[in-house]
Amino acid sequence: MNAPREYPRPTVGDFAPITALLGASGLPTADLSLPALAHFRVSRDGERIVAVAGLQPLGSAGLLRSVAVAPDRRGTGLATRLVAALEAEATRLGIHTLYLLTNTAERFFAARGYTVLPRAAAPAALKETAEFRQLCPDSAVCMQKVLA
Ligand SMILES: CC(C)(COP(=O)(O)OP(=O)(O)OC[C@H]1O[C@@H](n2cnc3c(N)ncnc32)[C@H](O)[C@@H]1OP(=O)(O)O)[C@@H](O)C(=O)NCCC(=O)NCCS
Repeated sequence: MNAPREYPRPTVGDFAPITALLGASGLPTADLSLPALAHFRVSRDGERIVAVAGLQPLGSAGLLRSVAVAPDRRGTGLATRLVAALEAEATRLGIHTLYLLTNTAERFFAARGYTVLPRAAAPAALKETAEFRQLCPDSAVCMQKVLA
């Protein structure tokens, strides 16, 4: 299935700018690799990556991660639209529930249908990910959304 033209999948040359945007946004990058970007989407302005969001499929569950928008583009709906694009992709992939960890954006995701759950209640496949095991602090809030 092709990605919508406005939010394409990243290309090889996008790896460095994506990790730079994530790093500048305080999000983990240590477990990212080119193959891991297979279910990421970006928004560009010309050559510049102005927003990114990623999906890590784990069977019938998925990890929503790496949602970041360049500071000068925040508040324009980019993250909302990228998350919606990934939710649609997750549904196409047969994913029933999305999970995420966040330190800073609990209210953003709550307004988009995500609910808090105890980190211990996440499925085993999620707990095995680098985000859960190493990269996100214990204080990070775990959230889930059951997809329609
Ligand atoms: C969180 C983030 C992705 C939102 O991106 P954005 O493109 O500005 O979001 P949108 O324009 O789609 O949505 C804006 C709405 O979200 C709210 N919002 C934005 N950032 C928020 C945050 N950190 N916490 C709570 N609400 C937030 C805005 O107040 C606005 O609310 P409104 O719709 O009621 O007006 C962006 O602030 C960011 O890159 N933050 C740093 C990285 C991060 O924390 N990522 C999330 C964890 S994966």
